[in-house]
Amino acid sequence: MSRSYYIAGNWKMHKTRAEAAELAGALVTALKDGKHKYLIAPSFTLIETVAPIVKGTNVLLGAQNCAPEEQGAHTGEVSVLQLKDLGVHTIILGHSERRHNYKEDDALINKKVKLALHHGFEVILCIGELLEEREAGKAEAVCETQTIKGLEGVSAEDLSRVVIAYEPVWAIGTGKTATPEDADAIHAYVRQVVGKLYGEMAAQKMIIQYGGSVKPDNAAQLMAKENIDGALVGGAALKTDTFIPIAKFA
Ligand code: 13P
Repeated sequence: MSRSYYIAGNWKMHKTRAEAAELAGALVTALKDGKHKYLIAPSFTLIETVAPIVKGTNVLLGAQNCAPEEQGAHTGEVSVLQLKDLGVHTIILGHSERRHNYKEDDALINKKVKLALHHGFEVILCIGELLEEREAGKAEAVCETQTIKGLEGVSAEDLSRVVIAYEPVWAIGTGKTATPEDADAIHAYVRQVVGKLYGEMAAQKMIIQYGGSVKPDNAAQLMAKENIDGALVGGAALKTDTFIPIAKFA
């Protein structure tokens, strides 16, 4: 089965409104005849600025997180209702920076996944092992657990709005990329896990992005692998010079 490529930029905690508008505008122009699926995920405070720039284009609007509740006394959190109001299409959940720096566990991430899907969003569920887990031979087991627990209670119908992003933690922002072979092996394994949960057809349809130091010079080799269906890009998503060549990899 042929899956389409999906290239997403996670801007993390970067940019002011003026900078965000400039980058979003340049990307919309550069990618308008791009062949793949595209997304940019700015910080919450930038979403209202970026939304009208990407509206009606082939660049989707993402958010980097959401609260596990719809509304209420949750100081400092942002609700799915507020994100929907801004026209957000996709929510990135379970990013390793949320898991490890802000102590989000699988149960919390699962609650957010289900809430976001319930409100009609697409979800990019991030998974990935730490360096010590990889060195201990536990990369597959960690990714399996994060996939199973992240998707617990998600219906087969809602699964069609889930994308998985494999981001080995040791490759994020470090300049170390997983080799295309190592990444593909985990992607294949995760696809099998999805197959056991939802059947072979759903597994073959699942878009699995790779993330972790994706750059213009390694994007094509990664994307050439059978099970790598796109990229979730951090640092290189912050500049047109680096994001456009990745988005238009050949
Ligand atoms: P880098 O591309 O900066 O390694 O970040 C990857 C990432 O965490 C995307 O979500």
